[in-house]
Amino acid sequence: MNSSAQRLLLLGANGQLGHQLAVQLQQLGQVKALTRAEADLANPAALRETLGNIAKTFHPTVIVNAAAYTAVDKAQTETELAHAVNASSPVVLAELAKAHNATLVHYSTDYVFDGAGTKPWQESDTTHPLSVYGQSKRDGELAIAALCPKHLILRTSWVVGAYGGNFLKTMLRLAAERDALRVVADQIGAPTSTELLAEVTVKLLQAMSTAADNDARWGVYHLAAAGEVSWHGYAQHVIAGALQRGANLKAKPEAISPITTAEYPVPAPRPLNSRLNTHKLQTTFALTLPAWQVGVDAILDHIISGKSS
Ligand SMILES: NC(=O)c1ccc[n+]([C@@H]2O[C@H](COP(=O)([O-])OP(=O)(O)OC[C@H]3O[C@@H](n4cnc5c(N)ncnc54)[C@H](OP(=O)(O)O)[C@@H]3O)[C@@H](O)[C@H]2O)c1
Repeated sequence: MNSSAQRLLLLGANGQLGHQLAVQLQQLGQVKALTRAEADLANPAALRETLGNIAKTFHPTVIVNAAAYTAVDKAQTETELAHAVNASSPVVLAELAKAHNATLVHYSTDYVFDGAGTKPWQESDTTHPLSVYGQSKRDGELAIAALCPKHLILRTSWVVGAYGGNFLKTMLRLAAERDALRVVADQIGAPTSTELLAEVTVKLLQAMSTAADNDARWGVYHLAAAGEVSWHGYAQHVIAGALQRGANLKAKPEAISPITTAEYPVPAPRPLNSRLNTHKLQTTFALTLPAWQVGVDAILDHIISGKSS
């Protein structure tokens, strides 16, 4: 199959990542981008019918799932909904992809790990989610791997984009409102931009466009920007970068105090070590992932200086 002739069905088109994918996937062919209103993952049976009908005429060669229940704290009490969206509906997507001999791209999270130690997690490491969200994402991964041979599950961390809600935007809002902020300094990871996630997704789909069902490259990959930082260090970088670009903020980088996870109680436990080892992805697909600051700075350029990347 010529990769320029692909027919891509995208779910979750109104999320941070989905919004970016709707633009960048167009390099590969025709994109049918569905929002929650058009394809709701809360009801897997209804989703099966909706997508079955769409597939009859659209004939997808690729299904990209950017939809997810991402409210990590709320998931602790909305357990059934989180599981429907993150675990049961991916079963429907995997079965649909298999029936159409299509590739399924799905995104997962560092929250499938418990965050012990300081070593970057490898794909082969044992998962042990601490939260309902993490467990629901892990269950989704397992279902896809079991049901759909042509799958790429991309585990990422600390997703950030110019579109949608994220930590970077929360810090900018709070720094505009308050003189001082307290931010957790003992959780370590890598902010990963939606632009990088979409760019790598495109490259992987190009590389795998003619791969057979039994190609050893299908599977799970860790995809995060290079380097590491705490939420506190990340917040300082964002505030300093925003000030350099002329933003009017009350809180300066030195007014952001480091606190521990224990000092900021939230319903869902977070992994302390969210480092992802991306060696498998980089070697399998001959990629070099940029430092996390590259993506974050491009977003600051976009939302503060109005520059497009
Ligand atoms: N955000 C992070 O820091 C992070 C970290 C690691 C991994 N990930 C993973 O990366 C992927 C993309 O995340 P993101 O940051 O782009 O998330 P996001 O901005 O929260 O977007 C999620 C999208 O899913 C949609 N959605 C939620 N419930 C749905 C339902 N019942 N039916 C259909 N769509 C539904 C949302 O729709 P509405 O727009 O209508 O709300 C939204 O468009 C997800 O798989 C997530 O688990 C995210």
